[in-house]
Amino acid sequence: MTSNNSAPSTAASASAEGPGLTLYGGEGTGRRVTVRDLARAKRAGERWPMLTAYDAMIASVFDDAGIPVLLVGDSAGNNHLGYENTVPVTLDQLVMLTGAVVRGTKRALVVADLPFGSYQESPEQALRSGVRLLKEAGAGAVKLEGGQRSARQVEALVAAGVPVMAHLGLTPQSVHAFGGYRVQGRDAESAEQLIADAKTMQAAGAFAVVLECVPEELAARVTDLLEIPTVGIGAGVRCDAQVLVWTDMAGMTTGHTAKFVKQYVDLRAALGDAAKAFAGEVVGGVYPGPEHTFH
Ligand code: KIV
Repeated sequence: MTSNNSAPSTAASASAEGPGLTLYGGEGTGRRVTVRDLARAKRAGERWPMLTAYDAMIASVFDDAGIPVLLVGDSAGNNHLGYENTVPVTLDQLVMLTGAVVRGTKRALVVADLPFGSYQESPEQALRSGVRLLKEAGAGAVKLEGGQRSARQVEALVAAGVPVMAHLGLTPQSVHAFGGYRVQGRDAESAEQLIADAKTMQAAGAFAVVLECVPEELAARVTDLLEIPTVGIGAGVRCDAQVLVWTDMAGMTTGHTAKFVKQYVDLRAALGDAAKAFAGEVVGGVYPGPEHTFH
């Protein structure tokens, strides 16, 4: 497997701020995207895409496509490991999956989720977990859920040199507390709380904030208020960046998908058809043909 770093090559936008790279569609620089590039993009008003990835092969596809940030989300729980939700995912599992994604990529900034139970206890626990994701797996940053309740954890990580992406709105690790997956920040009080949480995350040193399942108007307010980028998922088009779970956008997910999901390809049908074609040829004695046979 190779990753040839062949992001679509359009004219790179020259930055008045010196060395920086266009996050998507610029010329290759031969180096990984960093959190500084994301800060520059916010100042330049440049939007960028983020996708999840859970293994080296898929990560290399997205890296070659020029996706600048890949998230090894704990959504691996439902999309890769066969769990019902993200809660059972362990730090050991994310260290393993993140290592694979890092090995499959050359350019993308790889952000790894801190799974449920790996940071809530204390800033010290968060730091131990974050250090594992950087040191053992090679991640460039970590992501954790929660606003003010996670502020001390963010401060401890950032102080130790671990870049942190915060996750607000619908935070799936709290699915049992929420009683399901629903849009957050719809009333004035919870909207103000979300704004306060976003400001707290920025003040604590987070380099970006994911906003999941919040009304577009609220996400736009947060995006305008913050100096760090917002990454929307079900948060409307006004965010600085957008993220989708790769299995959703590629049509691999079965059953109900959220309103915000757009399916860009029906990979499930394509793979199913390929498997059936292979099976038919095996049963019919057509495969392997002479061109696939040694003599
Ligand atoms: O785990 C994940 O995939 C996420 C995204 C939905 C942002 O947190």
